[in-house]
Amino acid sequence: MSNQETPSVLLTIFGATGDLASRKLFPSLYNLYQKGHLSKNFACVGVARRNLTQEEFRQRVQDSIGEDAEALQPFLDRFSYHSHDVADRSSYKALKQITDELDDRYHIGGNRIFYLAMAPEFFGTIAEHLKQDGLKSSDGFNRLVIEKPFGHNLPSAKELNDHIRESFNEEEIYRIDHYLGKEMVQNIEVIRFANALFEPLWNNRHISNIQITLAEELGVEERGGYYEKSGAIRDMVQNHILQMVSLLAMEPPIRLTTDEIRSEKVKALRALRSLRTEEVRDSFVRGQYDAGEIRANAVPAYRDEDHVDTDSNTETFVAGKLTIDNFRWAGVPFYIRTGKRMQAKSTKIVVQFKDIPMNLYAEQGETLNPNLLIIHIQPDEGITLHLNAKKSGESLETTPVKLNAANTAPTGINTPEAYEKLLFDCMRGDATNFTHWDEVALSWQFVDKISSVWEAEKESFPNYKAGTPGPVVADELLERDGFHWWDIESLELKDC
Ligand code: BG6
Repeated sequence: MSNQETPSVLLTIFGATGDLASRKLFPSLYNLYQKGHLSKNFACVGVARRNLTQEEFRQRVQDSIGEDAEALQPFLDRFSYHSHDVADRSSYKALKQITDELDDRYHIGGNRIFYLAMAPEFFGTIAEHLKQDGLKSSDGFNRLVIEKPFGHNLPSAKELNDHIRESFNEEEIYRIDHYLGKEMVQNIEVIRFANALFEPLWNNRHISNIQITLAEELGVEERGGYYEKSGAIRDMVQNHILQMVSLLAMEPPIRLTTDEIRSEKVKALRALRSLRTEEVRDSFVRGQYDAGEIRANAVPAYRDEDHVDTDSNTETFVAGKLTIDNFRWAGVPFYIRTGKRMQAKSTKIVVQFKDIPMNLYAEQGETLNPNLLIIHIQPDEGITLHLNAKKSGESLETTPVKLNAANTAPTGINTPEAYEKLLFDCMRGDATNFTHWDEVALSWQFVDKISSVWEAEKESFPNYKAGTPGPVVADELLERDGFHWWDIESLELKDC
């Protein structure tokens, strides 16, 4: 086995006829296969309720990858299908028989990954059956991969976790946050800890504020039913945004091991100031989109989407100010915002540095453009550093310039790459880019305070038009502190 090749494994995907499996998991597995990362001793069982023959299932896998059958054949041969009822014991008995046979046929040696790509209400039951009905192997490793949402609030997440933990221990559980598989999110630690330039400045003496934006063009699509109960705060802030905050705020780990990194992330989340009711009103704002236009196409209001209440109080936009109470970050606001149906898909982090104490180049009373470090996560990937330089010519006037390092932008949004990396990590037993229960619990604890205030108070929605940068309250939030959102797309700067 080369160090790029994963160990032998039998992957069982629950929810194998669903959207996630066909859009992300099968293409990601195929990419791993093509790159030679997948073990020769790999097999996959797709599990779902529907009655499908092996051929029909393989056809679905093929369709999701889009290659012709001949090229795919050796890969497709590794796929089997089992029609399954998640609540029925006899179904697990049949599944056990299939997995044992495949284990023998492909010399897998008992290594098993169970991927739950389905509705969260079944997570606990499936985990329980996997143990009780003997699907967990006693020869190799057992890993349970769980998609979000992990609970709806802290009590429900705890209940779910307790249920799962009866059958799998924490080291066997891989909770997915697909943002942790994104190239530039993984780059946050490298930018911070591999550059003499940034780490000494990465604190409240030199940083004035940090802004995290996760803007989407998409609306709720066909997920109105789920989204009504979730809203942007649970859908994006509890997981993706707080994960990014913890990576930006954590102390350098003593080693790059899973435990050391997780322990620093947990400490950062513990330092997050919990909000009282009044503070929620002062430091968090919400929005819901009205009908509008995206790329010249008319789109409906959130309240007119399928499975959405016509008087819904669910937020499709959140902006907020987070405070981290520790030595490094006291006094530095972390501003976050995320919304659906905004003017463009754009995920980025802007680190704004403090102004220099005395400015020799600006007119009295004026300030220079602040230095900004921008981490572009998607759709473009890269880093930009905004500096001030001399305008060419005789005068000593300054002009803002930028240093740009762009990765080749991925062709699509939410491309399989994140899943590819996460599947690869899971097969190799690297849990660093998966969320530990302690992180999940602390994130819910923080978010629950906000949702409970919002659920008790009706907001006058809708308050922003689809295709715009969101509600004005989000701008006012920063203006009160003397800042504004850096709308990077509109900054016309020369490359250095
Ligand atoms: C998911 C949310 O976790 O992330 C979706 O449930 C959202 O509502 C998606 O659209 C955004 O992911 P990405 O990778 O497209 O930014």
